[in-house]
Amino acid sequence: MNIIHRKGWEIPERLATPEHLFLNRRALMTGAAAIGAGAMLPAVAFAQGKDPSAGLYPAPRNELYKLDRALTEESVTSRYNNFYEFGSTKAIADAAQKLAVRPWTIKIDGLVEKPRDVDIDSLLKAMKLEERLYRLRCVEGWSMTIPWTGFPMKNLVDFARPLSGAKYVRMETFMDPKIAPGQRQAWYPWPFVDGCTIEEAANDLSFMVTGAYGKPAANQFGAPLRIHQPWKYGFKAVKSIVRISFVTERPKGFWEALQPAEYGFWANVNPEVSHPRWSQATEEVLGTRERVPTLLFNGYGEFVADLYKGKEKERLWA
Ligand code: MTE
Repeated sequence: MNIIHRKGWEIPERLATPEHLFLNRRALMTGAAAIGAGAMLPAVAFAQGKDPSAGLYPAPRNELYKLDRALTEESVTSRYNNFYEFGSTKAIADAAQKLAVRPWTIKIDGLVEKPRDVDIDSLLKAMKLEERLYRLRCVEGWSMTIPWTGFPMKNLVDFARPLSGAKYVRMETFMDPKIAPGQRQAWYPWPFVDGCTIEEAANDLSFMVTGAYGKPAANQFGAPLRIHQPWKYGFKAVKSIVRISFVTERPKGFWEALQPAEYGFWANVNPEVSHPRWSQATEEVLGTRERVPTLLFNGYGEFVADLYKGKEKERLWA
């Protein structure tokens, strides 16, 4: 086995510089033109091949979140995806293009001051977008590193104005078996849902993703809205969210409902706790030929370890 032990922060900065920083002036002008397109009705703009939010990208990078490795090329990350609605292989990118991501409405309900439906472009206008370089660790033993764009989940919580009884945030994906062949497979517990505690949602690291690589997220990444909590295994990262509910009961995630012996609620990354089918000690860094040691909380312990103090008796890992 080819395990390379690299100390954190050892890579040259140029390796962590995403493509959009190399945009030339002409590309920036195109971006400015897209802001004009944002004034068009979203569905009309989309039918004409323009994402109405394109002018919001690239967003300024939040430099707080550093990487210990190079970004993974978009040509790799956008062609190796888990999105079971579109198939159980990693090659779902083409099938996922069937999902119409405009118009797109997100229902905010449950224990909130005022339940409401919000259009994705209104939500984007209400939020300040930023870019963060985050790692993603899948329980299958691979990882990638992506420049996500989005906004802190805690801003979404503030926007939703939950009541004091709300303990968990439950997120749900679209349901449309006509375009998503996986949803015709009745043995899966559709629609895909998962969730986290209000405290986890309010943690600085919890991020609502709307873009990647300096532009609106491609469908296979979970457009137009997904979550990413980089200290947890990727299977918690609900894609293409249509409903966000504030609830008292712990939500049962898609994978936990399907196979409770293998998947739990907390699903924090821990190299010492194996999944029944995969050791978690190391991970293959996609796009390289390296396997590297996996880090506790995927290396984000300084931000999140406190969330789990006093919960040591629970099944905190996968
Ligand atoms: N969201 C939906 N709606 N459907 C899915 O099948 N798969 C999950 C998660 N979110 C999934 C989903 C799993 S198992 C992983 S590892 C990540 O998405 C993969 O995200 P990526 O394709 O952007 O790497």
